[in-house]
Amino acid sequence: MKIVSLVGSPRGTKGNTAALLKIVLAGAASRGAETEIIAIRGREVKPCRACNTCHQKGVCPQKDGFNAIKEKALAADGLVLASPNYIFHVSAQLKAFLDRCCGLVHCQAFQGKYGAAVVTSGGGEDEPIADYLQHFLATTGAVPVGAVWARMGEISGQDFPEPIRSKAFALGEKLVQAWKSRETAPRFEREAAQFRERMRSLILRRKEEWPYEYEYWKKYRGLK
Ligand SMILES: Cc1cc2nc3c(=O)[nH]c(=O)nc-3n(C[C@H](O)[C@H](O)[C@H](O)COP(=O)(O)O)c2cc1C
Repeated sequence: MKIVSLVGSPRGTKGNTAALLKIVLAGAASRGAETEIIAIRGREVKPCRACNTCHQKGVCPQKDGFNAIKEKALAADGLVLASPNYIFHVSAQLKAFLDRCCGLVHCQAFQGKYGAAVVTSGGGEDEPIADYLQHFLATTGAVPVGAVWARMGEISGQDFPEPIRSKAFALGEKLVQAWKSRETAPRFEREAAQFRERMRSLILRRKEEWPYEYEYWKKYRGLK
Protein backbone atom coordinates (compact mmCIF):
# COMPACT_ATOMS: atom_id res chain seq x y z
CA MET A 1 0.00 0.00 0.00
CA LYS A 2 1.29 3.44 -0.89
CA ILE A 3 0.27 6.23 1.51
CA VAL A 4 0.71 9.90 0.70
CA SER A 5 0.29 12.35 3.57
CA LEU A 6 -0.14 16.09 3.28
CA VAL A 7 0.89 18.35 6.13
CA GLY A 8 -0.56 21.84 6.05
CA SER A 9 1.58 23.49 8.73
CA PRO A 10 3.86 26.40 7.76
CA ARG A 11 6.36 24.63 10.04
CA GLY A 12 6.35 21.76 7.55
CA THR A 13 7.86 18.45 8.62
CA LYS A 14 9.41 19.98 11.78
CA GLY A 15 6.10 21.03 13.36
CA ASN A 16 3.91 19.37 15.98
CA THR A 17 1.42 18.12 13.40
CA ALA A 18 4.12 16.38 11.38
CA ALA A 19 5.48 14.84 14.61
CA LEU A 20 2.09 13.25 15.31
CA LEU A 21 1.64 12.34 11.66
CA LYS A 22 4.99 10.47 11.71
CA ILE A 23 3.66 8.16 14.45
CA VAL A 24 0.59 7.39 12.31
CA LEU A 25 2.87 6.63 9.37
CA ALA A 26 5.11 4.43 11.56
CA GLY A 27 1.99 2.40 12.40
CA ALA A 28 1.18 2.10 8.70
CA ALA A 29 4.79 1.16 7.85
CA SER A 30 4.71 -1.56 10.54
CA ARG A 31 1.94 -3.19 8.44
CA GLY A 32 3.96 -2.96 5.25
CA ALA A 33 2.87 0.40 3.81
CA GLU A 34 5.20 2.66 1.87
CA THR A 35 4.72 6.21 3.14
CA GLU A 36 5.56 9.72 2.00
CA ILE A 37 5.10 13.12 3.66
CA ILE A 38 4.44 16.14 1.47
CA ALA A 39 4.73 19.51 3.19
CA ILE A 40 2.48 21.91 1.30
CA ARG A 41 4.52 24.84 2.66
CA GLY A 42 7.48 24.23 0.39
CA ARG A 43 5.41 23.76 -2.76
CA GLU A 44 3.19 26.81 -2.86
CA VAL A 45 -0.44 25.98 -3.50
CA LYS A 46 -2.34 29.16 -4.31
CA PRO A 47 -6.05 29.62 -3.58
CA CYS A 48 -8.64 28.49 -6.15
CA ARG A 49 -9.56 31.23 -8.67
CA ALA A 50 -13.00 29.78 -9.45
CA CYS A 51 -12.22 29.71 -13.18
CA ASN A 52 -14.01 26.34 -13.61
CA THR A 53 -11.24 25.03 -15.91
CA CYS A 54 -10.93 21.87 -13.78
CA HIS A 55 -14.60 21.11 -14.45
CA GLN A 56 -14.28 21.89 -18.15
CA LYS A 57 -10.85 20.37 -18.93
CA GLY A 58 -9.79 18.27 -15.93
CA VAL A 59 -6.69 20.31 -15.10
CA CYS A 60 -5.98 23.42 -13.07
CA PRO A 61 -4.31 26.14 -15.17
CA GLN A 62 -2.49 27.71 -12.20
CA LYS A 63 1.25 27.10 -12.41
CA ASP A 64 2.22 26.14 -8.88
CA GLY A 65 2.70 23.04 -6.74
CA PHE A 66 -0.89 21.79 -6.88
CA ASN A 67 -0.88 19.55 -9.95
CA ALA A 68 2.18 17.58 -8.82
CA ILE A 69 0.65 16.92 -5.38
CA LYS A 70 -2.65 15.99 -7.01
CA GLU A 71 -0.91 13.41 -9.22
CA LYS A 72 0.82 11.88 -6.18
CA ALA A 73 -2.47 11.72 -4.29
CA LEU A 74 -4.21 10.10 -7.28
CA ALA A 75 -1.46 7.47 -7.52
CA ALA A 76 -1.68 6.57 -3.80
CA ASP A 77 -3.86 3.97 -2.10
CA GLY A 78 -4.10 5.95 1.12
CA LEU A 79 -4.22 9.64 2.03
CA VAL A 80 -3.51 11.19 5.42
CA LEU A 81 -4.46 14.85 5.79
CA ALA A 82 -2.69 16.65 8.64
CA SER A 83 -3.20 20.20 9.87
CA PRO A 84 -2.63 22.43 12.86
CA ASN A 85 -5.75 24.01 14.34
CA TYR A 86 -5.67 27.56 13.00
CA ILE A 87 -8.53 29.57 14.53
CA PHE A 88 -10.85 26.56 14.75
CA HIS A 89 -10.10 25.24 11.26
CA VAL A 90 -7.41 23.75 9.05
CA SER A 91 -4.48 25.98 8.06
CA ALA A 92 -4.90 28.25 5.04
CA GLN A 93 -2.21 26.20 3.27
CA LEU A 94 -4.20 22.99 3.53
CA LYS A 95 -7.53 24.71 2.84
CA ALA A 96 -6.13 26.10 -0.42
CA PHE A 97 -5.22 22.55 -1.44
CA LEU A 98 -8.67 21.20 -0.50
CA ASP A 99 -10.42 23.96 -2.46
CA ARG A 100 -8.26 23.21 -5.49
CA CYS A 101 -9.59 19.61 -5.30
CA CYS A 102 -13.08 20.78 -6.31
CA GLY A 103 -12.90 18.95 -9.65
CA LEU A 104 -11.72 15.78 -7.89
CA VAL A 105 -14.69 16.04 -5.53
CA HIS A 106 -17.08 16.37 -8.49
CA CYS A 107 -15.54 13.26 -10.06
CA GLN A 108 -15.33 11.33 -6.78
CA ALA A 109 -11.77 10.83 -7.93
CA PHE A 110 -10.41 9.30 -4.70
CA GLN A 111 -12.88 6.41 -4.88
CA GLY A 112 -11.16 3.21 -3.74
CA LYS A 113 -8.68 5.06 -1.52
CA TYR A 114 -8.56 5.01 2.26
CA GLY A 115 -7.86 8.04 4.41
CA ALA A 116 -7.23 9.41 7.88
CA ALA A 117 -6.81 12.78 9.58
CA VAL A 118 -4.31 14.28 12.03
CA VAL A 119 -4.73 17.57 13.93
CA THR A 120 -2.75 19.37 16.62
CA SER A 121 -3.65 22.51 18.53
CA GLY A 122 -2.40 24.67 21.36
CA GLY A 123 -5.54 24.42 23.45
CA GLY A 124 -7.95 21.88 21.94
CA GLU A 125 -11.18 21.88 19.93
CA ASP A 126 -9.51 19.61 17.40
CA GLU A 127 -12.24 17.05 16.91
CA PRO A 128 -14.45 19.23 14.62
CA ILE A 129 -11.40 19.86 12.42
CA ALA A 130 -10.56 16.15 12.30
CA ASP A 131 -14.23 15.50 11.42
CA TYR A 132 -14.07 18.11 8.67
CA LEU A 133 -11.01 16.42 7.14
CA GLN A 134 -12.69 13.02 7.27
CA HIS A 135 -15.83 14.56 5.76
CA PHE A 136 -13.68 15.99 2.94
CA LEU A 137 -12.18 12.54 2.30
CA ALA A 138 -15.66 11.00 2.16
CA THR A 139 -16.83 13.60 -0.37
CA THR A 140 -13.95 12.67 -2.69
CA GLY A 141 -15.12 9.05 -2.64
CA ALA A 142 -12.41 7.85 -0.22
CA VAL A 143 -13.16 5.79 2.90
CA PRO A 144 -12.13 7.65 6.08
CA VAL A 145 -10.98 5.25 8.81
CA GLY A 146 -10.42 7.66 11.70
CA ALA A 147 -8.45 10.52 13.17
CA VAL A 148 -6.05 11.44 15.94
CA TRP A 149 -5.40 14.79 17.56
CA ALA A 150 -3.32 16.32 20.34
CA ARG A 151 -3.50 19.44 22.50
CA MET A 152 0.12 20.59 22.58
CA GLY A 153 -0.38 23.02 25.48
CA GLU A 154 -0.55 19.99 27.76
CA ILE A 155 2.48 18.26 26.24
CA SER A 156 6.17 18.85 26.81
CA GLY A 157 7.77 19.63 23.43
CA GLN A 158 6.67 16.94 20.97
CA ASP A 159 6.83 14.15 23.53
CA PHE A 160 3.28 12.83 23.06
CA PRO A 161 1.87 10.90 26.03
CA GLU A 162 1.45 7.15 25.61
CA PRO A 163 -2.34 7.12 24.97
CA ILE A 164 -1.94 9.56 22.06
CA ARG A 165 1.10 7.68 20.68
CA SER A 166 -0.84 4.40 20.83
CA LYS A 167 -3.90 5.95 19.18
CA ALA A 168 -1.76 7.44 16.40
CA PHE A 169 0.17 4.21 15.76
CA ALA A 170 -3.06 2.17 15.78
CA LEU A 171 -4.64 4.60 13.30
CA GLY A 172 -1.80 3.93 10.85
CA GLU A 173 -2.21 0.18 11.32
CA LYS A 174 -5.98 0.49 10.83
CA LEU A 175 -5.52 2.43 7.60
CA VAL A 176 -3.54 -0.44 6.08
CA GLN A 177 -5.87 -3.10 7.48
CA ALA A 178 -8.97 -1.31 6.16
CA TRP A 179 -7.42 -0.99 2.71
CA LYS A 180 -6.35 -4.66 2.64
CA SER A 181 -9.79 -5.95 3.59
CA ARG A 182 -11.71 -3.27 1.63
CA GLU A 183 -13.62 -2.24 4.76
CA THR A 184 -16.42 0.31 4.63
CA ALA A 185 -16.82 3.26 7.02
CA PRO A 186 -20.36 2.96 8.47
CA ARG A 187 -20.16 6.43 10.01
CA PHE A 188 -19.74 8.08 6.61
CA GLU A 189 -21.52 5.63 4.33
CA ARG A 190 -24.94 7.29 4.13
CA GLU A 191 -23.52 10.78 3.81
CA ALA A 192 -21.08 9.63 1.11
CA ALA A 193 -23.86 7.92 -0.87
CA GLN A 194 -26.05 11.04 -0.69
CA PHE A 195 -23.16 13.24 -1.75
CA ARG A 196 -22.29 10.97 -4.65
CA GLU A 197 -25.91 11.17 -5.85
CA ARG A 198 -25.76 14.96 -5.54
CA MET A 199 -22.63 15.02 -7.72
CA ARG A 200 -24.25 12.71 -10.29
CA SER A 201 -27.24 15.06 -10.63
CA LEU A 202 -24.99 18.12 -10.73
CA ILE A 203 -22.83 16.73 -13.53
CA LEU A 204 -25.91 15.78 -15.53
CA ARG A 205 -27.37 19.28 -15.15
CA ARG A 206 -24.08 20.92 -16.13
CA LYS A 207 -23.01 18.53 -18.88
CA GLU A 208 -22.75 21.29 -21.52
CA GLU A 209 -20.64 23.56 -19.30
CA TRP A 210 -18.41 20.87 -17.78
CA PRO A 211 -17.64 18.40 -20.59
CA TYR A 212 -14.60 16.89 -18.86
CA GLU A 213 -16.58 15.91 -15.77
CA TYR A 214 -19.52 14.66 -17.84
CA GLU A 215 -17.19 12.40 -19.90
CA TYR A 216 -15.40 11.26 -16.72
CA TRP A 217 -18.70 10.23 -15.13
CA LYS A 218 -19.76 8.37 -18.27
CA LYS A 219 -16.40 6.57 -18.50
CA TYR A 220 -15.62 5.80 -14.85
CA ARG A 221 -18.81 6.28 -12.82
CA GLY A 222 -21.38 4.49 -14.95
CA LEU A 223 -23.36 7.63 -15.89
CA LYS A 224 -25.94 6.92 -18.56
C1 LIG B 1 -2.14 31.39 13.19
C2 LIG B 1 -2.31 30.41 14.32
C3 LIG B 1 -3.59 30.12 14.76
C4 LIG B 1 -3.80 29.21 15.78
N1 LIG B 1 -5.06 28.97 16.21
C5 LIG B 1 -5.28 28.13 17.22
C6 LIG B 1 -6.60 27.91 17.70
O1 LIG B 1 -7.57 28.48 17.23
N2 LIG B 1 -6.76 27.02 18.73
C7 LIG B 1 -5.71 26.38 19.29
O2 LIG B 1 -5.91 25.60 20.23
N3 LIG B 1 -4.44 26.54 18.84
C8 LIG B 1 -4.21 27.40 17.83
N4 LIG B 1 -2.92 27.60 17.36
C9 LIG B 1 -1.82 26.76 17.88
C10 LIG B 1 -1.45 25.62 16.90
O3 LIG B 1 -2.61 24.93 16.47
C11 LIG B 1 -0.53 24.61 17.57
O4 LIG B 1 0.63 25.23 18.05
C12 LIG B 1 -0.18 23.47 16.61
O5 LIG B 1 0.32 22.37 17.33
C13 LIG B 1 0.86 23.91 15.58
O6 LIG B 1 1.20 22.83 14.77
P1 LIG B 1 2.50 22.88 13.83
O7 LIG B 1 3.70 22.91 14.75
O8 LIG B 1 2.42 21.64 13.03
O9 LIG B 1 2.37 24.12 13.02
C14 LIG B 1 -2.69 28.54 16.37
C15 LIG B 1 -1.40 28.84 15.90
C16 LIG B 1 -1.21 29.76 14.91
C17 LIG B 1 0.20 30.08 14.43
